Parts: sequence; C-alpha cells; structure tokens
Amino acid sequence: MRALALLGSTGSIGTSTLDVVAAHPSRLSVVALAAGRNRDLLRSQCETFRPRCVSVGTREDADWLRSNLSYQPELHWGEAGLLACALHAEVDTVVAAIVGSAGLASTEAALRAGRRVCVANKESLVVGGALMHEASLAGGGELLPVDSEHAALHQLLDGRDPASIREIRITASGGPFRDWPLARIQAATVAEALNHPTWKMGPKITIDSATLMNKGLEVIEASVLFGLSPDQVGVTVHPQSQVHAMVGFHDGSYQLQVCANDMKLPIQYCLLYPDKQPGPVVPYAWEGPRAWSFEAPDLDRFPCLALAFQALRAGGTAPALLNAANEVAVAAFLQGRLGFWDIQACNREVLDRIPVTPLGSLPQVLDADRAARRHAEGWVQARTH
Ligand SMILES: NC(=O)c1ccc[n+]([C@@H]2O[C@H](COP(=O)([O-])OP(=O)(O)OC[C@H]3O[C@@H](n4cnc5c(N)ncnc54)[C@H](OP(=O)(O)O)[C@@H]3O)[C@@H](O)[C@H]2O)c1
Repeated sequence: MRALALLGSTGSIGTSTLDVVAAHPSRLSVVALAAGRNRDLLRSQCETFRPRCVSVGTREDADWLRSNLSYQPELHWGEAGLLACALHAEVDTVVAAIVGSAGLASTEAALRAGRRVCVANKESLVVGGALMHEASLAGGGELLPVDSEHAALHQLLDGRDPASIREIRITASGGPFRDWPLARIQAATVAEALNHPTWKMGPKITIDSATLMNKGLEVIEASVLFGLSPDQVGVTVHPQSQVHAMVGFHDGSYQLQVCANDMKLPIQYCLLYPDKQPGPVVPYAWEGPRAWSFEAPDLDRFPCLALAFQALRAGGTAPALLNAANEVAVAAFLQGRLGFWDIQACNREVLDRIPVTPLGSLPQVLDADRAARRHAEGWVQARTH
C-alpha cells in the first residue's frame, strides 16, 4: 500500500490523481492533502479521503477548515504546510502537482527525504533540475515524471542501455493556433488561447500550450531527466496527441509510446510503477480507421520554443529566468494586461537582459527567479502604462 501526500490536490492533476487513488483502494491511500485557495473543494476531498494531514494557503482558511470538517486532521498553511504534508512520517509517495515555482521547495524536500516523488510540477525540473537530481540521489528516493511525454519516455527508456540512444522526441499537439497565420496568432485573445484542442488542463499550462512554451519547458525537463544534450532532444508536432514520445536508436530505428490522451494514465504509471494494472482509463481502441500526422514545429510563429532551446544551451540559471518571466507574462495575459504576442517578447527581454550564473543552491536559484520576476513585472508595467 502506497501512502500519498498530494500537493495541489484541487488542480487538474490533483483531481485526476484522486480519481486514480479511488480506482485502487487496496494499493493507494491518502495521508496528506495540500492546496492553495480552493478551500471548498479541499474540504470535500478531505471528507471523501479523510487525510490525517491537511494544508491550505492561509491561516484563515486553515481555521475555516477546522470549523467545517466533520473530523479533526492536523491542519497547516502556507509553504510550511506544504513541507509538513510532504515530510509527514507516514508518507512514502509525494505527488508534486502545484503549479509554478511555488512547488519547488516542497518537491526538493520530498526528494531529499527519500520519498518516491511523482513530479507533475515541471517547473521544479526546469528551474532546478540538477538540484532535484542531487536531492534525489542524496535522499535515495525515486523521481518519476508525471508529464505525459516524460512518463512515455521513462517507459521507453526503462532498462535501456543509454549508449544505444541517439535522440528522444516529445510530441506537441501544436495547440489551438497550430495552423493559424502569424498575424492572427499575434492578435489572439485569452478565450482563443484557452481553447485547447486535445487536453483539458489548468489555465497556466493551457496558455503555455498555445505559445508552445509548454513544449519548451518540457524539452528542458527531458534533457534534465534523461541526461541528454540539447541536440538529442527533439519536438514533433502531432495534433492527435496519441503518440506521446519517441526514442531514436543509433541503428536508425524508433520506438513510440501510444496511449489515450488522459493524464490519469501517466499518473497511475508513476504511482504504481513498475506495475501496470487496469485503472480508470479504458485501453486504447484500435478498431476503426484513424489518421495520425506529424510535422516540424514552426519556430517563427512559436518563438517561445526557440527561447527554451536557447535557455537550455545557456544552462545555469537561464531556464529559471525564462520560467519566471513566462509565469509573469502568462499571468498578465490572463489578467488582460498583456497581449498574446507580448508573452514571447517579455520572455526574450528577461533572457537577454538578466545575467546567467551557474546553478548553485536552491536559494540562489530562487534569487534568480525573483530577479527575473522583478524585471518582467517592470517590463509589463512599462508596457501597460
Ligand atoms: N494539467 C495537466 O494536464 C498537466 C500535464 C502535465 C504537467 N502538468 C503540470 O502539473 C502542475 C499542475 O498543473 P495543473 O494543470 O494541475 O494546475 P492547476 O489546475 O492550476 O492546479 C494547481 C494546483 O496548485 C495549487 N497551488 C497553486 N499555488 C499554490 C501555493 N502557493 N500553495 C499551495 N497550493 C498551490 C492550486 O491550489 P488552489 O486551486 O486551491 O489554489 C491547485 O491545487 C503544473 O506544473 C503543470 O505544468 C499539468
């Protein structure tokens, strides 16, 4: 029986994780749940799963939960609350499903404590990949990627001799603007950018899918996770989102991983690894005709992907700078303070202006993150006044 702490339980990955848990009552139990501001949903999740440890964003919401739950769990709040959940003595598996760099410290602490950490929070790996690896080695735990492309690569590479690998490729749906001309993309609205054709996800990652920044972050994540150079990581646009990743071998052949585009599959893969059992997702159906297409991404219409490769090649704090700038720009776009095309301009501005330093410690990375945010905020304000 795996004993879980689920950080980000009220989000898209969090609720899918609870569906997987509900499908495997004899294999998975919930010890701790943590969320941010959605106290109503957290309360109802607590009543269903009865975690012993619960954390929410603020002290006020923790007090509200104390008065509104039918039982009395340990209640925490804020950053310390996330750590209390991740490091709870009964927890052996942590699902890191908080969005953004707010998830960094708890992911690192869980890895250092030797837990199995199922990392959906790709920002942890993008911003502090080497540090997360080091924490995982120091703690003796396991780092398993929840991102569908990376879970696919984990399955394809499991037990493989690294010397036989020529390249890895992750697929991209291409997002809602895949076949739009540049001028139309530049003027895209929030509603258009949130209208993802194949995946239903939280708002930040949905916008990142429209700019292809999400794929850029995933390229960095893949390079870090599998120890491959930037030249060994490729992106192929595949609008049907049925092939999630490919591995190319030195003999010229490829292996592909195929499954339904449902995040419950990679989540279950990480939670039950190495076992594969029937779960909440129906097996892929091969009956009936189907057409898959593959094409190269267009870096002129989707410059965020090129910026991610630039940051990966620069190394050090460059991915952290890009990630922070992008978080600020996407939030400003969602608030109507920036246009869609400004997102890439803001990211480029921060990457070009803030000096890159070698990756040292987590506090140093968080300093780079703060510097990039300050610069990006200043740029957004100058743009909107
Ligand atoms: N969604 C997907 O299909 C998908 C696929 C692959 C990877 N990912 C990655 O998984 C992560 C989560 O994505 P998502 O789509 O699930 O996002 P989401 O739906 O926006 O959910 C984010 C979760 O994080 C919580 N949260 C945010 N800031 C917090 C803070 N400071 N303290 C505590 N909790 C906080 C939110 O709580 P409240 O809602 O209660 O405020 C919510 O539970 C992201 O890194 C994303 O890139 C997502």
